[in-house]
Amino acid sequence: MKVNGKNIRPIWLCHDSKLVKIIDQRRLPHEFTIKELQTVNDVIMAIEKMCVRGAPLIGVTAAYGLYLAILNAPVKTVGDDYLIKTCNKIKATRPTAVNLAWAVDKVLAEVLKAKTSTEKIDVARKAAGEIAEEEAERCRKIGEHGLCLIEEIKRNQKEGTVNLLTHCNAGWLACIEYGTATAPIYAAFDKGIDIHVWVDETRPLNQGARLTAWELGKHGIKHTVITDNAGGHLMQHGMVDIVIVGTDRTTSTGDVANKIGTYLKALAAKDNNIPFYVALPSSTFDWKLKNGIKEIPIEERDSDEVRYIQGFDKGKTRNILIPPESSSAANYAFDVTPARLITGFITERGICKATEDDIKRLFPEKDDGRQMTEDGRRMTEDR
Ligand code: MRU
Repeated sequence: MKVNGKNIRPIWLCHDSKLVKIIDQRRLPHEFTIKELQTVNDVIMAIEKMCVRGAPLIGVTAAYGLYLAILNAPVKTVGDDYLIKTCNKIKATRPTAVNLAWAVDKVLAEVLKAKTSTEKIDVARKAAGEIAEEEAERCRKIGEHGLCLIEEIKRNQKEGTVNLLTHCNAGWLACIEYGTATAPIYAAFDKGIDIHVWVDETRPLNQGARLTAWELGKHGIKHTVITDNAGGHLMQHGMVDIVIVGTDRTTSTGDVANKIGTYLKALAAKDNNIPFYVALPSSTFDWKLKNGIKEIPIEERDSDEVRYIQGFDKGKTRNILIPPESSSAANYAFDVTPARLITGFITERGICKATEDDIKRLFPEKDDGRQMTEDGRRMTEDR
């Protein structure tokens, strides 16, 4: 996507393929900083500290992490044990977004087939690069499919603005290009549809207020930042036509883990009869899981992220303490929205209902029955 007229992605491999560069998202929107990642430990730090964040981007960064680990390891140490240990270290950085393990395992599967160290390096670089390109393409297609929903609202309302509401940042910063939840928004804007986006600030780290607002502003899209608690009020007053959010992990039955607060938006949307869509690439499905509330691991982060708020003052980014010094705080980073509250999924293959059957209509190869041999043995892995 474009920033000040220049095409940029949130991550890229530098020309000599020796290092990876990222936009440091902790600094946005007031400072635009590029950070270099030279080692797998740099990658681990970047994911843990959320210099990069958002499910698809975490996956791509992790994939490049494995590449850097192989590139920098002394030739003799790159055995299967080393590779598997390294993958486990990368996978332990953030537990909720399934894209992370998915991408690392995808690169690992290719690397394990390679024989020499040089081959392993080449294979890892290629596999990580392909994941980045494929995620970008999946998001582009999500935009095409989601555009139909916005066009339909526009057709039905005849005149006026289409008002969307989104939570957190499921934009290109989180996804290489286009974003998931934002892809239909960019597609509608680029087609000339009059749209406006309510942007939940998304406490505690304010991914909405800092990142989504920045992205939409750079693209010239009308938007308004609101407190996390404002959505219900807007919905009651007919000020929201559709809610579109992203997801970090989605079960095969349609339960969705996304940024904390998503569940409350879904409840308010249901109560007010407002369509609530989740946009996702297939890499965000966890095909093994059936019950999101019981089975999806929910990340708990440092309570200081709740106690302190970050802002920009007199040319500097500062952290300000909010509650009494002695008060403790809890920081659950995600919640689960049950499938029954979701109107549908916008995927790269089209739109489906949040039901096991309809998801499998779009992704028939993930149907358990099709993965069995005639005598009932499992033929392929679930993912
Ligand atoms: O903690 P974060 O910022 O990584 O959480 C990100 C989200 O919850 C996004 O909505 C989700 O990853 C979808 S991104 C396309």
